[in-house]
Amino acid sequence: MGWIFFLNYVNTKDSINNLLDLVKMLILGIETSCDETAAAIVEGKNAGTQNLAFVRSNIVSSQINIHKKYGGVVPEVAAREHVLNILPVINEALEKAKIKRQDAAKRIRAIAVSTGPGLITSLIVGIETAKALSCAWGIPVVGINHIEGHIYANFITDQHKFPISNFKFPSLVLTVSGGHTMLILMKKHGKYKIIGETRDDAAGEAFDKAAKLLGLGYPGGPAVAAEAEKFEIGNWKFGVKLPRPMIHSNNYDFSFSGLKTALLYELKKDKNWKKKIPEYCHEFQQSVIDVLIYKTIEAAKKYNIKTIMLTGGVAANKELRRQMKEAVKTIIPNSLFLIPKLKYTTDNAVMIAAAGYFNALENKFINWQKLKVDPNLQLK
Ligand code: KG4
Ligand code: ZN
Repeated sequence: MGWIFFLNYVNTKDSINNLLDLVKMLILGIETSCDETAAAIVEGKNAGTQNLAFVRSNIVSSQINIHKKYGGVVPEVAAREHVLNILPVINEALEKAKIKRQDAAKRIRAIAVSTGPGLITSLIVGIETAKALSCAWGIPVVGINHIEGHIYANFITDQHKFPISNFKFPSLVLTVSGGHTMLILMKKHGKYKIIGETRDDAAGEAFDKAAKLLGLGYPGGPAVAAEAEKFEIGNWKFGVKLPRPMIHSNNYDFSFSGLKTALLYELKKDKNWKKKIPEYCHEFQQSVIDVLIYKTIEAAKKYNIKTIMLTGGVAANKELRRQMKEAVKTIIPNSLFLIPKLKYTTDNAVMIAAAGYFNALENKFINWQKLKVDPNLQLK
């Protein structure tokens, strides 16, 4: 486009600034939906053919050690911890991104915050903080669905290179966290259709419950995975066998509560189970992985999927990452497989800021007065 035409097209200084803003913008992300108090700054910009979120800072204050002694997250305790931590965490995120507090209003384009799903009292801490900053700094906010945040963990980069040049829609997202297990069809940015989900426990919840039964503590996923790693494949000593729930059901739904009950019955029958913990963990983990991979690949074939993404806390599971990558490569080799870096799989604010950037590109900014908490927020 020639300059004269360009200047006629955007004939005020403001609209030129707005256009430049869309090319490159700083977003503050805030995440407090469960037991991590997190803040981050990302620089959203177009990198070639794809928009990406470049990490400028990433601060996560985990409450795991506090909740460990209760065997799970205690909502009231979590909310109080968020209140204590939120401002120091945001302050650190600004410092690490080299943004002086007095310059924040000028340099940051918008604040993205998780508005649900999650624990209501925990969410409120992040939301009210976002509102206060938005009001004081005079910048807009973007409310982010926490699950959408997990999806956009796939568009984060901490390198200055372009890692996903061949990304294409339609894409299929397997979201596996402590609260959700979903297969999501994405035909474009910001447009989601849930084609399958758990009918009872989420995959992460199943790991947490299995760990409890096996006396392995909280959070269960990493504990079960660590025990499973001790089990050497080929060394099938005790023949522990668990079901693969709903694997051949004619849909993309999941069910993990029966798997936990099956484990419970096996343990009750077995006087020596304490000597076989690695084998029980290996079989439990493999059962979850088998079902997740089978359904994902089937759905990818049916919907002619070009890109498969894995997200959520359970995506930190090394075996799930390895086996899913292998399955995509061998069964549907023409599909691209994306997976966030380990540190962006569990709850963090970089993914919220990244989702905020993509929402900002669609002009989904709102005034702080309109920001609302919804602990049961649905993905649409
Ligand atoms: O996404 P996330 O941090 O929080 C929610 O939004 O729920 O996910 C936390 C869940 C927990 O259930 C935890 O046990 C599970 O992710 N998880 C894992 C692993 N690391 C975390 N599950 C299996 N293997 C892991 N390595
Ligand atoms: Zn999460």
